[in-house]
Amino acid sequence: MSHQIPATPTHRALPKGMAPACWPGLLERYRAFLPLEANSPIVTLHEGNTPLVASERIHRRLGSNIRLHFKLEGANPTGSFKDRGMTMAVSKAVEMGSQALICASTGNTSAAMAAYAARAGVRCFMLVPHGYVAMGKLAQGLHYGAQVISVEGNFDQALSIVRELSVSYPVTLVNSVNPFRIEGQKTGAFEVVDQLGEAPDFLAIPVGNAGNMTAYWRGFQNYRAAGLANKTPAMLGYQAAGAAPLVLGHTVPNPETIATAIRIGNPASGPFALEARDASGGEIAAVTDEEILHAYDMLAREEGLFCEPASAAGLAGLLTRARVRPFPEGSTIVCILTGNGLKDPQTAIGRVPESVKPVPAEVSAIGRMLAL
Ligand code: F0G
Repeated sequence: MSHQIPATPTHRALPKGMAPACWPGLLERYRAFLPLEANSPIVTLHEGNTPLVASERIHRRLGSNIRLHFKLEGANPTGSFKDRGMTMAVSKAVEMGSQALICASTGNTSAAMAAYAARAGVRCFMLVPHGYVAMGKLAQGLHYGAQVISVEGNFDQALSIVRELSVSYPVTLVNSVNPFRIEGQKTGAFEVVDQLGEAPDFLAIPVGNAGNMTAYWRGFQNYRAAGLANKTPAMLGYQAAGAAPLVLGHTVPNPETIATAIRIGNPASGPFALEARDASGGEIAAVTDEEILHAYDMLAREEGLFCEPASAAGLAGLLTRARVRPFPEGSTIVCILTGNGLKDPQTAIGRVPESVKPVPAEVSAIGRMLAL
């Protein structure tokens, strides 16, 4: 495999110093690191190239002289990091002639699958835990035209059903047990290094089915092996306390957390995430729902970043860790905000104590309300 990164294609010469305007999508950008043939079909929504935003305020809570950055994965086309794995998995499924896709999901994997299935013109089926999927995610799956199957059970039960179904029916499983998903998702690590100019010292990430932590670790290792990074970060994974099988060391039969995206008790990629933790000198720890919601509010109010609750688990973990084990001065930390806050408007609205009441359309009355 050659590790030359192709330049972004442009259709015309750009003025000197001006970046190419067209991002080709992450399969083209990172082709040299991905299992693609020259003639592989590419199913893309031009995902990836998400912003890496420096913290304005929260970094001070983590220690002195900390460089903290947030990777806004909610800026992907379907609003979560899942697009990275799905462009890869759906492209390979099409290459192999698949006509139908299936997954179990807490909502984001299925939203991404549904979008890329529509793009590829193939059918898809999503199994979701009934009553535990944020509204925006359900709306996406339905609107992209997936067949939505709402299962009276949790994510782990739904995953075990789709694993069985994909053996006996002509349907491609696109959960992260599909190895192409992890391959696509590892590009998140490439972008972090490309954007920072070096790998960070620490990478904080929420953990549910444990695919993303596995993928980032692989990405950092690939880049170091290729000489594109000099180091790899300590991987810090955070699970919700009510759904923390990797912290407890055993599966959790009835996982519970407000962060429904990571309400998982038997993570399929658990062993790989534990390996990433150990090999990188990191940790996998638990954060309470209260800590998650506190970080969720703080990101919006202090940084202007609206992520979904599960995405705030990474910051919740960093804040907890900093209290007991300060980060070395001068550390660079990247925190992955995995999904867009608009996925789950109900949780955001529920955080505000009073409901918004209508007022008469009068300048003077509204002027008084401003209390300026
Ligand atoms: N953050 C968000 C917003 C997620 O949707 C997920 C997983 C995670 C973090 C955890 O990532 O599973 O790779 O450890 N969502 C899956 C889904 C389970 O079905 O959308 P992970």
